[in-house]
Amino acid sequence: MKIFDSPSALAQGVADAFLSDVRAALDARGVFSVALAGGTTPKAAYELLASEPRRDLADWTRTQIFFSDERCVPPESPESNYRMALSALLKPARVPGSNVHRMRGEADPNQAAQEYADRIVAMLGNEPRFDLVMLGMGTDGHTASLFPGADPFWKDDSLVRAVYAAKLQAYRLTFTPALINAARHVIIAAEGMAKAPVLAAVTNGPYEPGRYPVQCVKPRDGKLDWFVDRAAASQLGST
Ligand code: 6PG
Repeated sequence: MKIFDSPSALAQGVADAFLSDVRAALDARGVFSVALAGGTTPKAAYELLASEPRRDLADWTRTQIFFSDERCVPPESPESNYRMALSALLKPARVPGSNVHRMRGEADPNQAAQEYADRIVAMLGNEPRFDLVMLGMGTDGHTASLFPGADPFWKDDSLVRAVYAAKLQAYRLTFTPALINAARHVIIAAEGMAKAPVLAAVTNGPYEPGRYPVQCVKPRDGKLDWFVDRAAASQLGST
């Protein structure tokens, strides 16, 4: 776990880890595949990646951008994770449109999930392995759109699922643990006091992925990094 002094230091850490993965992937395979996280935490890191000096340290023409989850809304919706990434990163970094693979939140959820899984296989092969999967964590211990109390589909080997998030009364599209855990590198970023209790529970408490789905993130043959700020880490010593 990497603990940063502030949200801005955390954002810099995430952006620099992203660039380190870009270099490793381009050296090894000539292409970098990444699944972006949604929510609000990663936005600052995306903005850093889209600005000097970091923008030109990446190679956006050899980067394939996916999303680890999406709300079932149109891309122009303020709720859309794609929309947030478009304004924070994709547009200012001038990422070629053909390199951006959007989950179609506006479509039928099950159809969109299957379509996205097909797209991932078409781009990465039958055993898709992302160079980097970026995730956040909710105050309830969810990650991507794997919510507490959901069917234990993480024992399923599907790649992308449509889930109904009862708490939100909304459908979501999400990577499954099988796909997440195939990654070479997973970064879970969490910041703020509100995340402190759940971070302590998932870090120091028992393994209960049905209650805290983020605990099912265990890359099979890859690296997991938690990037957190001091506020989110403030209760780690107390459990
Ligand atoms: C989403 C995300 C979700 C997010 C967490 C944390 O679609 O909202 O994928 O899993 O990462 O809810 O969200 P914040 O970064 O806004 O706290």
